[in-house]
Amino acid sequence: MKGDFAMCGIVGYIGEENATPFLLDGLSRLEYRGYDSAGIAVYDGQKIVVEKTAGRLEALKQKLEHNPPAGHAGVGHTRWATHGRPSDRNSHPHSSCDGKFIVVHNGIIENYLELKEALLSEGYTFTSETDTEVVAQLMQKHYTGDLLGTVRKVLAIIEGSYSLVFMSAYQPDRLICTKKDNPLVIGLGERANYIASDIPAIIAKTRRTYILSDGETAIVTKDSVRIENSKGEPIDKKEFVVTWNAQAAEKGGYEHFMIKEIYDQPKAVRDTLSGRIGKDGHSVVFEELSWTAREMEKIRKIFIVACGTAYHAGMVGKHYIEQLTRVPVETDIASEFRYRAPIVGSDCLLIVVSQSGETSDTLAALKEAKRLGAQTLAITNVVDSSIAREAGKALYTYAGPEIAVASTKAYTTQIMVLLLLAVYMAQLSGSTQERRLKEIVAEIKCMPERIHKLLEDVDPIKVFAQQYAASEDVFFIGRLLDYAVALEGSLKLKEISYIHAEAYAAGELKHGTLALIVAGTPVIALATQEEVYEKTLSNIKEVKARDALVIGIAMENDANIEKYVDHAVYIPHTDKYLAPVLAVIPLQLLAYYAALSRGCNVDMPRNLAKSVTVE
Ligand code: F6R
Repeated sequence: MKGDFAMCGIVGYIGEENATPFLLDGLSRLEYRGYDSAGIAVYDGQKIVVEKTAGRLEALKQKLEHNPPAGHAGVGHTRWATHGRPSDRNSHPHSSCDGKFIVVHNGIIENYLELKEALLSEGYTFTSETDTEVVAQLMQKHYTGDLLGTVRKVLAIIEGSYSLVFMSAYQPDRLICTKKDNPLVIGLGERANYIASDIPAIIAKTRRTYILSDGETAIVTKDSVRIENSKGEPIDKKEFVVTWNAQAAEKGGYEHFMIKEIYDQPKAVRDTLSGRIGKDGHSVVFEELSWTAREMEKIRKIFIVACGTAYHAGMVGKHYIEQLTRVPVETDIASEFRYRAPIVGSDCLLIVVSQSGETSDTLAALKEAKRLGAQTLAITNVVDSSIAREAGKALYTYAGPEIAVASTKAYTTQIMVLLLLAVYMAQLSGSTQERRLKEIVAEIKCMPERIHKLLEDVDPIKVFAQQYAASEDVFFIGRLLDYAVALEGSLKLKEISYIHAEAYAAGELKHGTLALIVAGTPVIALATQEEVYEKTLSNIKEVKARDALVIGIAMENDANIEKYVDHAVYIPHTDKYLAPVLAVIPLQLLAYYAALSRGCNVDMPRNLAKSVTVE
């Protein structure tokens, strides 16, 4: 039985300053993790004061405007409901009956119902429907004067996934935190320490962090952090120094994170390429992998498994790997993979792609493939994330934090890593001519500059977006790599502008969907792939014959496309393999400006959250 709440952001502060400003600021940087209710708890010197409310963080800030709690230790939480309704009393933090114990939680306590029934029969009363409240009540029940010991007792009772922070009026000089299958970071400050679900919450305060691993528990005071393993033995944790600057986690002057992140792409791609092109200037090196030709030979089949946008990147990756190495690749949606009894064995490599590294379905698929004996490799943007740690090897995209719910720079950097990987594998297996590999690498190196050039003139796209913003349905068509990009363009438009969109392999339209094309139906046609270019033009003619309104996305040297479409958008000329990296950008912008015209909340679209840690 699942609990109600699973996707949330957590913060904690203990130090010499007033905790409340940090808690509210930290939560505002974690709103992408959840944003339907928020709360804080602060020890005021005598008791713990809890303030919480349904709605955006702004609602909590307004509530606290005239009488904010003040004290040197506190915790905070921003929530995203998955089952129950957002409400004041279901918001975190949760307290024990006697108010002496406070808990904030991200995850699911799976056995909470039986625990709750037992506690109810012993006279404990509950104020919320949450699974989390059980943890606070258990703390009260088992407390014998030793806070850490009680936390350990409670952890032995609860089952599920969690990151948890505990605070107690009995020992207000410390916060205790722990995690299993959900992220938790400790920031090391000057006479203050911080706790958060993710780095953006603490980056304005410190770059020195500990990234907790599953089963570790930290006892955090204002001037010490002691970390113990699951057996209670102290461990000497290595510090992780965040190299992102503080601004990288903020909007940097843009109106929304999404548009900032679209413009981050030249840098994100440059960072992702850094150190991965050899000194000779034309070979790919992956120190993280250091595979040999023999190891490569053993791989008979590859699976690429992911969700949403990361899955679309995986479709592009399939094309690269198959074309360059001739090893067969299957792509799978992570939520399907483990339920379809996949035929996976030790001669298979499973590649998971995940921006957050925390997506529950992707993590579960990875665990299943490991159980079946496959080698595993993660492509992820978050260092030391659950997926990075679970996989045999990890290749990072260095896109920096992606805050907008709609993924943009993570997608382009995922494609870059997949192409580098395909070239790396082809180098080992000798399956593609060296000359061709050199050509691809030369073009890879030009990508930051090409993206930069593309982003210099986006005015026509703004105009089209305004024109198309009133549409109810939009179609995206393309063949081969253009089809994979069409899928991503369609997802972007749907999720942030709420315009219904569908992507079709262009040759498939006439098998049914053409019936939906009538006068004025917007169709975005991608035509960047030379070997199917003529075929795509024929498909464009099919929709034009039904008076569709067509935007063509083509390379800048294409002198032909304008004869076939109503508007043409040009991307800088590039190798066909790199075209997806460029072609997706006008589609990201189209979605962004269409959403703006429709007055949508671009960074936080309805019903969605950034990190999907539920099945
Ligand atoms: C859409 C989007 C999602 C994610 C998906 C997987 O813009 O961002 O479709 O791609 O939820 O998330 P990660 O990559 O974190 O595993």
